[in-house]
Amino acid sequence: MAAKPSTYKRLMVHTLTTNFREAVKIETAEMCHPKKGEVCVKNKYVGINASDVNMTKGRYFTSGKPPFGVGFEAVGEIVEVGEDVENFKVGQSVTYMNSNMNTYAEYVCIAVAEVLPVPEANPGYLTLLVSGLTAGIGLDKAARITAGESVLITAAAGGTGHIAVQWAKAAECHVIGTCSTEEKEKVLKDLGCDRVINYKKEDLAEVLAKEYPKGVDVIWETIGGKVFQDCLKNLALRGRLLVIGGISAYKDEDRAAMEKRDLSDLPEQLLFKSSSVVGFMLLHFGECFASYFKYMSESLEAGKLKCVLDNGEKSTGKEFFGMEGIIRGVEITHKNGHKTKYLQKIDGTKIDIKFP
Ligand SMILES: NC(=O)c1ccc[n+]([C@@H]2O[C@H](COP(=O)([O-])OP(=O)(O)OC[C@H]3O[C@@H](n4cnc5c(N)ncnc54)[C@H](OP(=O)(O)O)[C@@H]3O)[C@@H](O)[C@H]2O)c1
Repeated sequence: MAAKPSTYKRLMVHTLTTNFREAVKIETAEMCHPKKGEVCVKNKYVGINASDVNMTKGRYFTSGKPPFGVGFEAVGEIVEVGEDVENFKVGQSVTYMNSNMNTYAEYVCIAVAEVLPVPEANPGYLTLLVSGLTAGIGLDKAARITAGESVLITAAAGGTGHIAVQWAKAAECHVIGTCSTEEKEKVLKDLGCDRVINYKKEDLAEVLAKEYPKGVDVIWETIGGKVFQDCLKNLALRGRLLVIGGISAYKDEDRAAMEKRDLSDLPEQLLFKSSSVVGFMLLHFGECFASYFKYMSESLEAGKLKCVLDNGEKSTGKEFFGMEGIIRGVEITHKNGHKTKYLQKIDGTKIDIKFP
């Protein structure tokens, strides 16, 4: 293994905004070295997540004072081991979510408690961290899905959605998935979705009212705004609507729409259906991470769970690479969806960024 260089590149947030490119600067920092109980990982790939722009806005911190790092997950190789680290060695491949949330860097020093060993630094493992764990743990522990139930997954061909689709199918549920392009429709059919709703061609509320007159048992809601309202209206008796996110209002310019939503009759809507709206934030389920990751990574290795990655070639024709690749990857994630101005499509997806 090559010796560590004396400096490394990282992205740091300097301006609190959801415009990722404006928020971050590419910095060259002095090389970090692991403290007691830490390892230093040379990242091979990092995963892009919709909430990266919530981070750059400072919504994930109580203080939110820049400069601070950004990025939730990575896969790479250990290049240095700190004092008192027994179970990890130099050269070992690992993946991790970092509670310091600063994985957008060539090197990261991280506590061994947050590191998961993997057989090789394969980007597929990135679909199993923020996305995969949210899908599996959220559907089991918060939505409590059971065989035979109908489950609607929004942004179903996305990073989190495409794992949620497979998880609900494996639990023998009837799975409905929403998406915005024909490429994504195909991805979802291939993953076993029973009903794909391309909301550019069909109206979500109309399809649900017509084809699911008794309502849907479980709804995986990641969009917010009108989609949230349409989903709530179409919950079944004893149904559960899981609030996973609200991407339509993540960007500053879209936030006004969310603030206008009317939830004044929410208690009555829930009461008369014995239904519930449940929030889910992955960070609150840390005790489940290791067991779910083990099960999911074994399923991935056995070919039972499929991951769909976008290394940039599908969406922009050019591989996402290094720090500038991260910036482009975040922009693509947020230019997609139902914006009319987006430049390119992503067909199905966890965006991964390669490092030298
Ligand atoms: N609560 C948690 O712990 C947790 C953890 C992970 C993720 N999440 C949430 O899960 C959701 C998906 O996250 P992800 O990282 O996996 O992203 P992603 O699904 O890979 O990308 C977002 C997708 O959302 C859809 N979308 C619909 N309306 C949109 C809009 N107005 N702007 C942009 N995209 C829109 C797009 O798919 P279509 O074009 O097909 O509509 C887009 O591809 C987000 O809401 C995220 O915050 C929550």
